Amino acid sequence: MPRSIAAGAKKLNGHRGAVVWFTGLSGSGKSTLAHTVEETLHRMGCRTYVFDGDNVRHGLCADLGFSVHDRSENIRRIGEMARLFVDAGVIALTAFISPLAQDRDRVRQLIGDEDFIEIYCRCPLEVCERRDTKGIYARARKGEIPEFTGVSAPYEPPVKPDLTLDTDKMSLEECARIVIRLLAQKQVIDNNGLPGSSDL
Ligand code: ADX
Repeated sequence: MPRSIAAGAKKLNGHRGAVVWFTGLSGSGKSTLAHTVEETLHRMGCRTYVFDGDNVRHGLCADLGFSVHDRSENIRRIGEMARLFVDAGVIALTAFISPLAQDRDRVRQLIGDEDFIEIYCRCPLEVCERRDTKGIYARARKGEIPEFTGVSAPYEPPVKPDLTLDTDKMSLEECARIVIRLLAQKQVIDNNGLPGSSDL
């Protein structure tokens, strides 16, 4: 994208576009955290959009399942879409398991290191399984859902994420504060006007 367009969007929005990519097991808190970060960013006047299974897997990716091939295609499409949002100067927050390192790395290459922020929501499988908010782990254990991440399909943790959050140990608010601080450090959002770190 020409620099002038990026600069124009930045001037309009007061911040630059970026992709905040949450990865982790089902039930690790990605989507909840993305929405909480979004609320804070909205209070700060930032333009954002949260992509998660609710709005992507029922529409844009409704034709895809959970085979290795389909997951890669799911992540590729989300990456391409997120890139367009970055062009528009929006902070795109994505919450997908994205279990394979090579799929996430491909999105990093597409977006560029500077604008791609990978956040690992680290939560032990036992905890995700105990929470089982959707009852989906129980079904996976019974063999009703094949290729279920963490049960019968792999999850490759990021080797060098921009941030790792132990979502089983830290509160949602604490995790959100750390993400916001990282966005300020990376100059996605302005440090000026940020509330004191204790209020974030
Ligand atoms: S990804 O692997 O392609 O990134 P995505 O984040 O879109 O997955 O979707 C994960 C959600 O789909 C899970 O939280 C769960 O509710 C549901 N799901 C259904 N089948 C599976 C499966 N085989 N493995 C993992 N999640 C599944």
